[in-house]
Amino acid sequence: MSCTIIVGGFFGDEGKGKIVAHVAFKDKPVIISRGGVGPNAGHTVQVGTQEYGVRMVPSGFVYRHAKLCIGSGVLVDPRVLKQEVERLDVKGRVFVDFRCGIITEDHIARDKGSAHLAKKIGSTGSGCGPANSDRVMRLSPQAKDLPELAEYLLDVPKVIDDALKGGNVVLLEGTQGFGISLYYGTYPFVTSKDTSASQIAADNGVGPTKINDVIVVFKAYPTRVGEGPFSTEMPAAKSDAMGILEFGTVTHRKRRIGGWDGGMARYSAMVNGCTQAAITGIDRVDKACFGVTEYGKLTKKAKEFVKMAEADIGCPVTLISTGPEISQIIDIRSEYS
Ligand code: IMP
Ligand code: MG
Repeated sequence: MSCTIIVGGFFGDEGKGKIVAHVAFKDKPVIISRGGVGPNAGHTVQVGTQEYGVRMVPSGFVYRHAKLCIGSGVLVDPRVLKQEVERLDVKGRVFVDFRCGIITEDHIARDKGSAHLAKKIGSTGSGCGPANSDRVMRLSPQAKDLPELAEYLLDVPKVIDDALKGGNVVLLEGTQGFGISLYYGTYPFVTSKDTSASQIAADNGVGPTKINDVIVVFKAYPTRVGEGPFSTEMPAAKSDAMGILEFGTVTHRKRRIGGWDGGMARYSAMVNGCTQAAITGIDRVDKACFGVTEYGKLTKKAKEFVKMAEADIGCPVTLISTGPEISQIIDIRSEYS
């Protein structure tokens, strides 16, 4: 049996969606289950020329043979879920733990209408903060209370446990990033929950002894959306000149761009219990690496970057993303297993 957690090492948007999708096609999990906060997350997955954005459905959905679950720790916005299920044609494959917290219109109005959340913190306005607040106050509805979710309900920890006992592969995907963890991030400029690997295991009801691998995803040039400290941030003029321009999947806000943060990478790897790391956007370190699929074909400059990152993280870098498309990746995990 094998259970792998994939989480973001910086401030989110590290390209976890693409890494999850690649690992899914390679490792053939029977279940891909999502942890994390809720629909404040946005993942982009590109297959061929087709680009998909997801907020509720696990980003591993492009691998058609896995059951797609949403763990009980996650907040579900039934409207966002329904739209995605239809748009992505995944009906019958998506399941929601019956205990998931629910985001109501009122939570969204309170998130968007709050000067503290919307302006000071720069929240995504998706209602997650107020919904988690209500959940802690024991005021929130659960997925099982909504008739429109009846067809999706499942005991997610139980199906994951059964799959693992049957010798199958299970992937647990995290959302957000370490830097915006409620516990370990740049409080108060954080999201409404922890985002580390332990939280992702808890979100899915998988005890720590059942986890075999934790893959932490780092972006060569980290980004941050919303407010809060970002020690390696560069002036927009500099990142623009480097051709690095990104917009949020959920909010469409321009992302702030920074340089590699070795200290943060090390601390994040430590708290996450990283066993292997993924680096995304290596083509931004050296454009000549765009689309490369073999480690030996990386340029000297890119290899030096990977070595430097590896020394900071303290774990082998086994996945290197060389472009947005799912096949643009170097996978040397087998050399370390
Ligand atoms: P909230 O999670 O919507 O309350 O927003 C709190 C902070 O976390 C804001 O700075 C958001 O931009 C940030 N945030 C929340 N989810 C994500 C994500 O998935 N990626 C990147 N930033 C996020
Ligand atoms: Mg994102």
